Amino acid sequence: MAHYLVTGGCGFIGSHLTDRLLADGHRVTILDDLSTGRIANRPKAARLIVGDVADPEAVQDAARGVDGIFHLAAVASVQKSKEQWTATHRTNQTGAVVVFDAARTARDGGPVPVVYASSAAVYGDSPSVPLGEDSELRPLSAYGVDKLGCEMHARVAWQIHGVRTTGFRFFNVYGPRQDPHSPYSGVISIFARRLLDGCPVDIHGDGEQVRDFVFVGDVVRFLTAAMERPAPAAAVYNLCTGRPTSLLMLLDVLEELSRRRVPRHHQPARAGDIRVSIGDPAKARAAFGMTCRVGLLDGLSATLTGR
Ligand code: NAD
Ligand code: UD1
Repeated sequence: MAHYLVTGGCGFIGSHLTDRLLADGHRVTILDDLSTGRIANRPKAARLIVGDVADPEAVQDAARGVDGIFHLAAVASVQKSKEQWTATHRTNQTGAVVVFDAARTARDGGPVPVVYASSAAVYGDSPSVPLGEDSELRPLSAYGVDKLGCEMHARVAWQIHGVRTTGFRFFNVYGPRQDPHSPYSGVISIFARRLLDGCPVDIHGDGEQVRDFVFVGDVVRFLTAAMERPAPAAAVYNLCTGRPTSLLMLLDVLEELSRRRVPRHHQPARAGDIRVSIGDPAKARAAFGMTCRVGLLDGLSATLTGR
């Protein structure tokens, strides 16, 4: 069994990944600054180091002796990257460089593989639909630019330093444990909570923007598969379903599932908001021999019931 470092392991996706790794019999060390992650998310069997992913000493200490690193720590909010440009850049891009650098010598002075979270935000307003990995990259936000920077530094990690990396461009991930209380959280967790509380929802723009929503359990399956079969070069894959859902459709389904209706308040569109984001899952399907299997109805039901 292996020992893995999970950066951001107290967050939404990282805590589900940690659960899976522990259930598979692995040891897990988490590095997390608890800025959006919660101690309550951490499975007790995981060792927690509270620290900053952009601090080289903290990351080197956490990575010493591990067999591989899952790098998920980041400021996940596109909106926050607008409000706190420099701080999010430090975490989102410098943090990735620090992780790749630590991976160079993590085990017996040699390199260990890194599986890391990129984002569909790298495509920005690319006109291709669905978005393939070779589509034009036109990020619209500091967040998207920083994730693209992570991918470029991953190439350096491989070509110059021999660190094998696999990047996943997650599309919109949802599921239980995504924080419903922060305005910076994912739209499904916010809408689901508001419906259950009987509060109005805010729709930014006309609600016709489209997303490719991916259930967190499917994300975890791809992350673990990539660690078991690290890419030979700095490969990058979409992690998506290929199925489009508009915000208005999403609300209709959530209302039906929860048997509640709430007022819809339209707000101005967010600057830098992507209009249409639908991924092509073909490359990941070919590489890993699997697809995202949880459909929106099942995934939303699991999210509403917290399971
Ligand atoms: P999250 O906010 O729940 O998790 C991020 C974790 O990183 C939190 O536990 C937080 O405390 C930690 N963190 C933040 N800054 C840190 C720092 N400086 N040092 C150490 N830890 C720090 O978000 P999430 O949705 O679980 O996102 C996980 C990863 O997936 C992120 O890299 C995010 O950019 C990426 N991603 C998420 C989505 C999505 O739809 N949720 C989509 C694309 C990419
Ligand atoms: C999300 C992720 C980001 C990821 C990207 C990949 C979060 C917080 N953000 O960004 O990490 O890289 O997907 O595609 O998980 N909206 C409303 N009302 C609300 C909240 C949101 O109308 O109360 C709208 C937004 O304006 C946007 C859509 O819903 O059009 C989705 O927003 P959000 O969940 O924040 O995700 P993205 O910005 O797509």
